[in-house]
Amino acid sequence: MQKKGVVILDFGSQYTQLIARRVRELNVYSEILSSNTHLSQIIERDPSAIILSGGPSSVFGDEAPSFDKKIFDIDIPILGICYGLQLLAHHHGGLVESNGQGEYGFAEIEIDDDKKLFQNVSKSSQVWMSHMDRVAKLPDGWHTLAHSSNGVIAAMANKNQTRVATQFHPEVVHSKEGKNILKNFLFNISNCSANWTAENIVEQKVKLIREKVGESNILVGVSGGVDSTVVAALIHKAVGPQCNAVLIDHGLLRKDEAKNCVTALKEGLGVNIYCYNESKIFLSKLKGITDPEKKRKIIGNQFIFSFEKISKEFGEVDYLGQGTLYPDVIESGVSKGKVAHVIKSHHNVGGLPKNMNFKLIEPLRELFKDEVREVGKELGLPDSLVYRHPFPGPGLAVRIIGDISEERISILQEADKIFIDTLVEDDLYNDIWQAFAILIPIKTVGVMGDQRTYENLIGIRAVTSTDGMTADWYKMPSKTLNKISNRIVNNVQGVNRVVYDITSKPPGTIEWE
Ligand code: XMP
Repeated sequence: MQKKGVVILDFGSQYTQLIARRVRELNVYSEILSSNTHLSQIIERDPSAIILSGGPSSVFGDEAPSFDKKIFDIDIPILGICYGLQLLAHHHGGLVESNGQGEYGFAEIEIDDDKKLFQNVSKSSQVWMSHMDRVAKLPDGWHTLAHSSNGVIAAMANKNQTRVATQFHPEVVHSKEGKNILKNFLFNISNCSANWTAENIVEQKVKLIREKVGESNILVGVSGGVDSTVVAALIHKAVGPQCNAVLIDHGLLRKDEAKNCVTALKEGLGVNIYCYNESKIFLSKLKGITDPEKKRKIIGNQFIFSFEKISKEFGEVDYLGQGTLYPDVIESGVSKGKVAHVIKSHHNVGGLPKNMNFKLIEPLRELFKDEVREVGKELGLPDSLVYRHPFPGPGLAVRIIGDISEERISILQEADKIFIDTLVEDDLYNDIWQAFAILIPIKTVGVMGDQRTYENLIGIRAVTSTDGMTADWYKMPSKTLNKISNRIVNNVQGVNRVVYDITSKPPGTIEWE
């Protein structure tokens, strides 16, 4: 673990990842560990502070998550948030109770002590509450740092403020001065260092990659997306010619996508990257297939065949570089057990079978997406790649509803390019989480000049989101919609109508298939 960082113990809050991100935005490294992590494993990481997250339990309930109580005996500052506050109160002899009335949503707090945690915070401040239980009596020797307008203890601390806690959630943007409060904890109360910067991350990762791989050869599968592109750039920076990158073009990428990615890596950074056009074989396997899940399976399986075949051309390869990110690590580790209902298989193209004869190297395992982007910029990748919207592995296959053919791919590629270029032109691209066009297997009647037309229908979709789990349809200015519609109908042969999707997720999903 990076020196002078923070360990966050996860008691099951929906906001735990957000705490980690806020801390890192203040350039302090943070790592999420399960609440029951043994003290020795925490000490091993040499943290400068510990944060106890919120959680859905009650400290006196049977289902309260277990944790190593020895953390309260060590000399490292602790911040408890929500459930974390109740835990601190309970274990230091205070009284936590439930009067059947919780506080949810916005609340106004009054600061009683602004010496450390609330330094430079307004006397009266807006925060975000989400709790059932509350502290009815402080532990001996502790005092109130802030109270909410309805008399609840909103923050408390021991005498020298090495143990501090908030009933509200400073990590949530609705807590207006939350970032400042976290900053005070990291730097006023704890001895954290603001050394988690893109420059340091690159330097550190380059060193680690070199140590790990020695003289070995590494192959990186690049998809055109930001994660795998950054992996290729990072590994190339570390070991230069020992790194080869491969982009398998399944023929369902967006217009010029493969070319732009290869150009940025090869000409921009000197990475050995090879693009393999496998579209013929992918398209032949997809012929006549209309079921979305079948499309995903076919593409996923063919991707593995193609990758295995191509990787043999590179002789002795020991390592495979992959773009695993921190949220993937947390999902499968810290919070395991939370199984979501499978709506789509999200068959990850690029996901390779475990029995391949490679060791894995995953230099982004500790990073959140926004950090990956910062690292990409630091490595010299162009903004167009670094800030690209997410793109699904099966690509346009799940945006061509029904049959896939070269002609239909080409219609969608042209329409999609016009849509995206117009968003960039109108400076809207970065306000949107994901935007794309869909080819709908319906023909409609139109009139162009004096001619009756009977042509294809294009759907356009743009959503705002933070993680793709939920999404809101983007309130696109009508001026832009107008431009997009005119340009698509006038320039894409075979399209005479455009519709805008105004469905949020839920109940819709982001993709149409
Ligand atoms: P949905 O459509 O489920 O999409 O709301 C959520 C996010 O996941 C992406 N997506 C996929 N990504 N393989 C992928 O790698 C897939 O099969 C797949 N299906 C959806 C989608 O683009 C959105 O970002």
